[in-house]
Amino acid sequence: MLDKERIPKHIAIVMDGNGRWANNKGLPRLAGHNAGMVAMKEIVKHSSAIGVEYLTVYAFSTENWKRSVDEVNGIFKLLVLYVEKELRELNKNSVRVRILGDYSKLPEEAVKSLEKALKKTDKNIGLQFNIALNYGSRDEMIRAIRLIGEDIRLGLIKPENITEESFSKYLFTGEKFADVPDPELVIRTSGEKRLSNYLLWQSAYSEFVFMETLWPDFTPTEYEKAIEEYQNRNRRFGGRNIT
Ligand code: FPP
Repeated sequence: MLDKERIPKHIAIVMDGNGRWANNKGLPRLAGHNAGMVAMKEIVKHSSAIGVEYLTVYAFSTENWKRSVDEVNGIFKLLVLYVEKELRELNKNSVRVRILGDYSKLPEEAVKSLEKALKKTDKNIGLQFNIALNYGSRDEMIRAIRLIGEDIRLGLIKPENITEESFSKYLFTGEKFADVPDPELVIRTSGEKRLSNYLLWQSAYSEFVFMETLWPDFTPTEYEKAIEEYQNRNRRFGGRNIT
């Protein structure tokens, strides 16, 4: 049973397996992404319902540009569709949308619709829904180092004063951008056991739950199973048992 008192504050998900799901059914890959979008919608709703405060999904990585133009454009079209269709519902549930990654490189239509979603949900105080788009951890860290370099040049900070905490502020998840705590739980679907350049810094002490389920088949029940597994683990943060 799910312990409602110990729901992780921040859950990050790698939504993997859309392509295989479609392939298994003899459908085009985009049909898999479409089904993935529907699954994502349900997980956002369920996160609000069970009191998750931050949900971060990996929707498009800095490496995903290597896919066919049709697939890439199709994913962004789905994203626009999602925002257009769901914005009202997101607002109704007081969900705040944030983007992790340099989304200015996305097609113009996607940028416009994301900016609308950011603006229209900015005052919401429910679930913070972070969509990682054109996101990669290495890219994020290099960007942070450049921003820090700039602040050093301007005399705003001194190299000797850089700490883990101050470095974190320059990441996409940092207080200057999305202000999210580190995820307690990272879930990856489809049986792959890799992090794939996702939240490398932020997941230093996260629990990982890998599931065989392909993302389009990931239901709220599966989600709760992953959270239960997390609740059964013993987090030590490099120290002794916390009882
Ligand atoms: C991974 O499956 C999934 C993606 C790269 C795209 C994720 C997109 C969605 C869930 C739907 C669209 C929603 C938004 C917000 C853009 P895969 O294609 O790597 O699957 P495979 O490993 O089986 O090929």
